[in-house]
Amino acid sequence: MSEVYRFGVSLEQTLIDAFDRHIAAQHYKSRSEAIRDLIREELIRKEWKEGGSVAGAIVMTYDHHKRELVNVLLDIQHDFQDTIISTQHVHLDHHHCLEIIAVKGRASDVENLATTLKIQVGVKHLSLSISSAAA
Ligand code: NI
Repeated sequence: MSEVYRFGVSLEQTLIDAFDRHIAAQHYKSRSEAIRDLIREELIRKEWKEGGSVAGAIVMTYDHHKRELVNVLLDIQHDFQDTIISTQHVHLDHHHCLEIIAVKGRASDVENLATTLKIQVGVKHLSLSISSAAA
């Protein structure tokens, strides 16, 4: 673990009260922990906006009875083999499949993959969760 530094933060009373309510609701043990997460989130957002390197997961559900859909989804995933780390497939019920696709790479490639999958007819829902590829 890298060295830990301390620094002071000045805030208006109303803002710190609102922040304390927020971190209590989130079950943070300290303000430091909550601030660390906020900083990381902001840095990830910045990476994402600037097209930097990100890691994350695409979660999608689809109707596998939809004609040709399974093949189309597979073709798309093969086209993005440099971005996809692994895929987990779960047969939810007779009609529906759940896929969790772990991704790592340029933000623009990850976004392109997610959008290309999402617009296919028969894909019921898709969400993209982004984390940091670094720190
Ligand atoms: Ni399935």
